[in-house]
Amino acid sequence: MKVLIFDLDGVIVDTAKYHYLAWRDLANDLGFDFTEKQNELLKGVSRVRSLEILLNIGKIELSDKKKEELLVVKNVEYLEYVNKMTSEEILPGIEELLNFLEKEKIPFALGSASKNAPLILKKVKLYDKFAAIVDGNDVSKAKPNPEVFLIAAKKLNTNPKDCIVIEDALAGIQAANNAGMTSVAIGDKELLHEADHNLSNTNELSIDFIKKMID
Ligand code: BG6
Ligand code: MG
Repeated sequence: MKVLIFDLDGVIVDTAKYHYLAWRDLANDLGFDFTEKQNELLKGVSRVRSLEILLNIGKIELSDKKKEELLVVKNVEYLEYVNKMTSEEILPGIEELLNFLEKEKIPFALGSASKNAPLILKKVKLYDKFAAIVDGNDVSKAKPNPEVFLIAAKKLNTNPKDCIVIEDALAGIQAANNAGMTSVAIGDKELLHEADHNLSNTNELSIDFIKKMID
C-alpha cells in the first residue's frame, strides 16, 4: 500500500513568509539586508544551518554563545506569527486532500525539519489527522539526509519505495530521493527539477493527481 509523507512549511502552510520576516529583522539588527530571494536558500534547512547561511550572507562571525542567543531571538519572533495562525492559513486544496486520504484510509505522516511543527499543526487544527509526526525534534541529520522520511516510513510500517513525499524545498526533494521514495515537488520547476513529479502549487496537488500516484 502506498502512503504519503508531507513536508509542513510551504506544503501544508505558508510559514516561509514568517520565517523570512523573523530572519530579516535579525539581519537588520546585525546591520545588513536580507532579501526574499536570499530567503529561498533557507527553505527546508534546519534552524541552526539557516543562521549559518544568514551570517555568511552578512559576512559576520560570532561566538557559539552569541549564535545560541540569536537562534532564540529569531524563534521568539517567529512564534509571535505562529501563535496568530488559524486554519485559514492552510494552503489551497490541502484540507480536502487530507480529508480524502482519511476517508480512503490511506495513511499519511508529517516529515518536517521544523521543531515548531507540532505547535503549527495544532494552531491550524490538523494535528490529530496525521498517523505519525516526525519533526526537527526527532532527527539528528537535516535534509537532504533522508533520516526524517525514513523514520516516518518506519512509523507508518511501510517500505520507503511505497512512500510518496510532498516537498517544496530542494533539500527536501533530495532527502526523499536519497530515501528511495517517490518525490513530488511543489514550486519552481527549474529549481526542483530533481523531483520525480513537479507541480506549480498546492492547487495542482489534486485528489485526481494523488489517485493516479497511488494506483
Ligand atoms: C523548515 C523550513 O520546514 O523548518 C525552514 O523550511 C526552517 O525554513 C526549518 O528553518 C526549521 O524550522 P524551525 O521552526 O524549527 O525553526
Ligand atoms: Mg518546506
